[in-house]
Amino acid sequence: MFPITRPRRLRGDEVIRRMVRETALSTSDFIYPLFATYGTGVKNAIGSMPGCYQESYDEIAKSAKMIYELDVPAVILFGIPEHKDPEGSGAYDAEGVVQVAIKAIKDAVPDLYVITDVCLCEYTSHGHCGVVENGRILNDPTVELLAREALSHVEAGADMVAPSDMMDGRVSAIRETLDENGFNDIPIMSYAVKYASAFYGPFREAAESTPEFGDRKTHQMDPANRREALKEAALDVDEGADVIIVKPALSYLDIISDVKHSFDIPVAAYNVSGEYSMVHAAAQKGWIDYERVMMEILISIKRAGADMIITYFAKDAARILQR
Ligand code: PBG
Repeated sequence: MFPITRPRRLRGDEVIRRMVRETALSTSDFIYPLFATYGTGVKNAIGSMPGCYQESYDEIAKSAKMIYELDVPAVILFGIPEHKDPEGSGAYDAEGVVQVAIKAIKDAVPDLYVITDVCLCEYTSHGHCGVVENGRILNDPTVELLAREALSHVEAGADMVAPSDMMDGRVSAIRETLDENGFNDIPIMSYAVKYASAFYGPFREAAESTPEFGDRKTHQMDPANRREALKEAALDVDEGADVIIVKPALSYLDIISDVKHSFDIPVAAYNVSGEYSMVHAAAQKGWIDYERVMMEILISIKRAGADMIITYFAKDAARILQR
């Protein structure tokens, strides 16, 4: 008790603060999202996400090289296809935008780990994550298409697949399809705990995937639910997920912590687009210090229990960590 106990003794200067620090960030924690589009010489700035671009194959290969040089081990790929249709056929086309981008990245930087986001929303003309009939998103027919999409990504050279659709049963379907085709070594990082969040707004501009009608609340989780996160995670673990994602991150640190303590597989947190854009917007106004707020957010996600952080901040944070 005070005056014997004085916690300030261990905060007196930077040396002792460094010695008692409980959490450290490393460039190895980060996965950087990239948006692939068709063509050459295309680098479209995404207005709501400063520093992020839709990039054609040649440009994305250059970005991949830069990320590798910053010692960030992995990227996660999203695609903006040339054509969209109700079945999202671009998602599982061997010559689709993500499939070609994977090859371009692997040709340029073979050691960069390439993860692909597996979902239909970027490829469907209605912008929904699955097959739509009478205004409803059908689960089981969608799962079949997701398994085809995952297989085509892996055939193109993806190192890991990350289903983000939140259909029931898709992890086991993808696992089965990959195994039947000899890809039993390819891990699945499932978006196991994904909330129906307003924080995805800027991403939908980036990926051109805003739903034409309705929302994603019949498959993504209700932000009010905590116990349900453990149920969703348990199902995906049982179905064979190797890594589980909690998404978004910042408003869901309790969920990251719960999932981390309940399962013995790695947990990734997705520090989503809205979380990134808010920091940029406030920093542009001079209301907050961009670098300090960014690093504080990232350390909080790690402290909550994330083993990996999917983040648009990866490049800027890596530059700071390398100083
Ligand atoms: C695809 C997908 C989304 C995000 C990642 N994968 C959008 C959504 O579910 O609407 C969001 C990522 C972000 O906001 O940074 N379904």
